[in-house]
Amino acid sequence: MSTPSFAPSCGEVRARFPALSGEWALLENAGGSQVPAGVSDAIREYMRTTYVQLGAGYEISRRADAVVAAAHDLANLVMGGADTGVAIIGPSSSQLVAMLAQGLAPRFEPGDNIVIAEAGHEANMGPWARLAKQGVEIRWWPPTADGGTGSLEALDGLLDERTRVVAAVHVSNLLGEVVDVAEVARHAHAVGARVVVDGVAYAPHRAIDVAAWGIDWYVFSTYKVYGPHMAVLWGTHDAIAEVERPSHFFVPDDDIPYAFELGGVSHEGCAAWNAVGDHLRFLAGRTDSSPVDRETVVAGFDTMAALEAPLVARLLTGLSEIPGVTLVGAAEVAARVPTVSFTVCGHTSEAVAAAAHAERIAIRHGHMYAHRLCTRLGLPIDDGVVRVSAVHYNTVAEIDRLLEVVTQIASEPSPHRSRGLHA
Ligand SMILES: Cc1ncc(COP(=O)(O)O)c(C=O)c1O
Repeated sequence: MSTPSFAPSCGEVRARFPALSGEWALLENAGGSQVPAGVSDAIREYMRTTYVQLGAGYEISRRADAVVAAAHDLANLVMGGADTGVAIIGPSSSQLVAMLAQGLAPRFEPGDNIVIAEAGHEANMGPWARLAKQGVEIRWWPPTADGGTGSLEALDGLLDERTRVVAAVHVSNLLGEVVDVAEVARHAHAVGARVVVDGVAYAPHRAIDVAAWGIDWYVFSTYKVYGPHMAVLWGTHDAIAEVERPSHFFVPDDDIPYAFELGGVSHEGCAAWNAVGDHLRFLAGRTDSSPVDRETVVAGFDTMAALEAPLVARLLTGLSEIPGVTLVGAAEVAARVPTVSFTVCGHTSEAVAAAAHAERIAIRHGHMYAHRLCTRLGLPIDDGVVRVSAVHYNTVAEIDRLLEVVTQIASEPSPHRSRGLHA
């Protein structure tokens, strides 16, 4: 990350997001982010003017083609892989990874193994774990003893010449730590394995650079990156060549990405995603309307990272100063995003979240589909953790409101203790 040359005020950023004008502090962004006005306007505009079928040759249809093509171009730019691979658009990261695992399944033989990061989200675990049914050995890459996402030493202990895939997570949606995926890829490639990175919890915060990191497959969800409910799976040309296409028999194998976009993509979603490019252009301080380029993408995310820095600092310091609060995950990490999970001694995560909701603060509790991680960390699976997740449009004042609520509930006697229960 470099220092951004453009520094919009928090107010300028927030004014772009209609949903932020109310009194709610929206701190559940790891679940899904809000959208700039241009994104929702783009859906409306597209459906009013361009909502025809693709590829029909008439003028409106050609405009629709261009919108969908532009969405793929933007996805490639955001991935940082426009020259080395292809972006496939789909309804969700979960569906795209499931499609990938199914498409690779015929290549795996009994005795092959797949390494799965246990700190991940089930989206990049279950589809691989299910391949055990065909004799593939599943090797779990555990979080570190101090709650880190996973060590390279432990990874090395799991890899061998029969490892076909390493299913890694760039940022756990509970732990917030940024994993060095370039290193993960390097270690995986040393034994000839492909690396599939779940970047869903990373993509809303920092610029992805699949080419620089040497990633084979990378996935993120656009609805967490200020856009519509879709997702993007990017693969290198070589990696894509290995996958069985799920499409109709008459769709040529080299019709990429269409051969992986069964039934097509959401056209209005593509229009909306293109408007996310405008937000990146704003964050990059560009006032012209020329197409978004890679430099704009990187500058836009640098601005986001700068806006987030005080939020993550306040969250971590504030929470760790409250007696009874235990942060989940490693305290000291090289880099992290403002996604922080914790528990409060004597109080359920559900009760903490409810106390925040009463003060119009949107946060969440539970296992957040990081079910296996919660189990490994010994957390009660039905209650999980409290998770606060900020993005560039949140404010320190919102974090302070949350800290006030947590301070208050942590100071109250435990309802469990009064019933003679230990919690
Ligand atoms: C880290 C992570 N990976 C994957 C997913 C699944 O994404 P999708 O909802 O697009 O399937 C999520 C969703 O919360 C997530 O947080």
